[in-house]
Amino acid sequence: MTGRIPQAFIDDLLERTDLVELVQRHVPLKKSGSEFSACCPFHAEKTPSFYVSPQKQFYHCFGCGAHGTAITFLMEYENLSFPETIDQLAEWAGLEVPRESAGPETEPLAPLLEALEAASRFYVEQLRQTPTAITYLKARGIDGATARDFALGWAPAGTDTLARALGNRFGTETLLAAGLAARRDDGSVRDRFRARIVFPIRDRRGRVTGFGGRLIEAGEPKYLNSPESAVFHKGHTIYGLYEARRAETRLAELVVTEGYMDVVGLAKAGFHRAVACMGTALTRGHLELLFRQVPRLVLCFDGDAAGRRAAWRSLEQALPLIQGMREVRMLFLPEGEDPDSLVRHEGLEGWERRLAGSSVLSETFMRLLGERYPLDTAEGRSQCAHAAVTLIGTVTDPLFRTQLCDLVAEHTRTPPAQVFAMLGEPAGAPAAGASIGAPAADVRSGTAKPDRLGQGASHVWSALLARVMQWPQQDWRDPALERLRTAGGRGPEILGAILDRIQASPGITTARLLEHFREETYFPRLMALAGQSLGEEDAELSRRIALDSANRLFREHCRDRIRDLAARADRPLSEAERAELRTLQALLGRGAGPDGNRE
Ligand code: UTP
Ligand code: MN
Repeated sequence: MTGRIPQAFIDDLLERTDLVELVQRHVPLKKSGSEFSACCPFHAEKTPSFYVSPQKQFYHCFGCGAHGTAITFLMEYENLSFPETIDQLAEWAGLEVPRESAGPETEPLAPLLEALEAASRFYVEQLRQTPTAITYLKARGIDGATARDFALGWAPAGTDTLARALGNRFGTETLLAAGLAARRDDGSVRDRFRARIVFPIRDRRGRVTGFGGRLIEAGEPKYLNSPESAVFHKGHTIYGLYEARRAETRLAELVVTEGYMDVVGLAKAGFHRAVACMGTALTRGHLELLFRQVPRLVLCFDGDAAGRRAAWRSLEQALPLIQGMREVRMLFLPEGEDPDSLVRHEGLEGWERRLAGSSVLSETFMRLLGERYPLDTAEGRSQCAHAAVTLIGTVTDPLFRTQLCDLVAEHTRTPPAQVFAMLGEPAGAPAAGASIGAPAADVRSGTAKPDRLGQGASHVWSALLARVMQWPQQDWRDPALERLRTAGGRGPEILGAILDRIQASPGITTARLLEHFREETYFPRLMALAGQSLGEEDAELSRRIALDSANRLFREHCRDRIRDLAARADRPLSEAERAELRTLQALLGRGAGPDGNRE
């Protein structure tokens, strides 16, 4: 995984990859005109609004707005990183991924991953030789098969047993960088995990990226985790996900618990859909990651006050993510119990019965609000409504918004119209999503992105760039574009880069063109433009609209420049500037193109 992947290789790879074929592996596609359609794999729906264009090699969902290239599709669908996606595509295409030599500042990940894998094997071997550790696990009900599935291990008690066992092969610096060892003040190196049962934490592909370790006797801290490293990021890591996906091929639901032992204990009992977020609070990032795997999440909380506070926080994180078929349920556990202890006391059936009794998010929403704001007084009800509206304001799914508003209206005895009004929307406002053939909606979602292309005329820039991006096989050599690209500024620069790329690669597809800009801050914006619906427009009409837009933009540029020069007060204009002014005025006077509207 070291080194940059050359752009030329990515381009070549995309040329050999067919997006239709790739999507077809996961989602059955139906021919629909010159495109293919399906029910969107990125949100739940009953009628297809997911379209794949074989010409552009680009997909777009008019329901949820998902869009992109073959690379984006694999990244999102399989939840892979960019390099992992390239590896996967290359494997299918039968190509070897070349890596440009890594710069000194890029950290090579492969040795870290190898050291972590070797450490995991070492710990497993140590467990086999350590009766006290085996006895501990047995006493907690963990059998050999479960220990094997989760690759549970034992970190010996010695100061640097692991460092000595792996040091020669990997070098101290690698062990330190992988979080397996730490340096003491006197410069000596010691193992991070000592006298602990270790739980390897594996990424989506099963590679060990870190460990959790539990003492088997009383002591502090009870659990120790790997530190953040180049390969281990707690915020993006869910314990047990790899194991759950391996155990169940068609996962529709995941249960989020608090601890390693909950995941392992439930698996031992025959329940393989549990994961854990390793002692950190559940973040929106975690939830997004989980929703990429399954549409339904059950979050477990302790029944005490701390548990309810955690539930409130999770509620806040989850509300904006609910859309379509996504569902969050919450399970409050009896005090003093966790899923591991529950399943041992009540068995698999008891556990599943409890799960079935978990409450949906909207129910928890009202319940938690009701606990904070007593609904038996007018004051409490109006405070409750205020708090509720603030939360509902974060909900993006229009239907879910409406449902929550109705619920709040009912519970706080407020007229529904007033709740909607507080949210600043008319009751029953239409969904904010895009519909087919409605470019305005795409433009709107596009301009919400941070990177603006033009200054005053961003919709004109959008009109131009969308068409160039979507018809890269057109001949775009034209004086209008040449003039504009030399005008200076961000928009012209981006336009220039796109035109150069098109010129350099005759026959390039929209997707290949796009992938040249993945590293740029304006990439998301370009993606949106590439997916924007141009309705029934054909190549010729698109070209006319694009060139017309270019003329408008250039005129705007001329006017701005003239205004700048004319406003110049600090010194007289130089000869060159006066010449420029004359040229600009002449250009404007000629109308600089077919659409010569006057001011
Ligand atoms: P708990 O204290 O609830 O432990 O911590 P547990 O999961 O029930 O474990 P057992 O049953 O006592 O073995 C829940 C999670 O919080 C993190 C760990 O990820 C643990 O699984 N934790 C806990 C720490 O990171 N450090 C600690 O000292 C304690
Ligand atoms: Mn426990």
